[in-house]
Amino acid sequence: MQKNSLKPSSLAIIASLLAFSPFSLADDKPYTVTDGQALDSATFNGYKLYRNWCARCHGTYAQGMVGPNLADSLNVISKDEFIASVTHGKMGQIGMMPAWESNPQVMEGMDQIYAYLKARADGAIGEVKPSKAK
Ligand code: HEC
Repeated sequence: MQKNSLKPSSLAIIASLLAFSPFSLADDKPYTVTDGQALDSATFNGYKLYRNWCARCHGTYAQGMVGPNLADSLNVISKDEFIASVTHGKMGQIGMMPAWESNPQVMEGMDQIYAYLKARADGAIGEVKPSKAK
């Protein structure tokens, strides 16, 4: 046996270190979707905020309307870019996105809105009406 080869046990230790490290990709999946439409309560709240404040321009389930399809956008833009666009608004090729910095519901629910849109972007939930998981 080679002296420096990794034993399965050390691989398991490395794997668990990665899983619990602050650099893990945990934030990549900030939602839980059950049965294709039941959301954890934080993500469900994000959907409700989205519906109240964003759906009239971005479509009922973020599929796009006056504003771009955000399920597509979230596969392209980073979370920081998302937060910047929502906070300060965005004036671009497509049109005018209002700033939300003076709306405490949107600002406080930023992570939750992001979680819902990320679930849409990942295809974890489609263009269907979400429910709140029990
Ligand atoms: C009055 C219509 C309107 C409303 C309401 C609105 N948006 Fe937008 N949004 C737009 C438009 C138009 C754009 C495209 C701007 C451009 O031309 O790049 C946009 C762009 C964005 C982008 C950038 C997308 C990208 O690919 O860069 C994000 C993120 C976004 N909106 C999120 C939201 C969220 C979250 C809400 C609710 C809190 C919201 N928007 C509400 C019209 C709107």
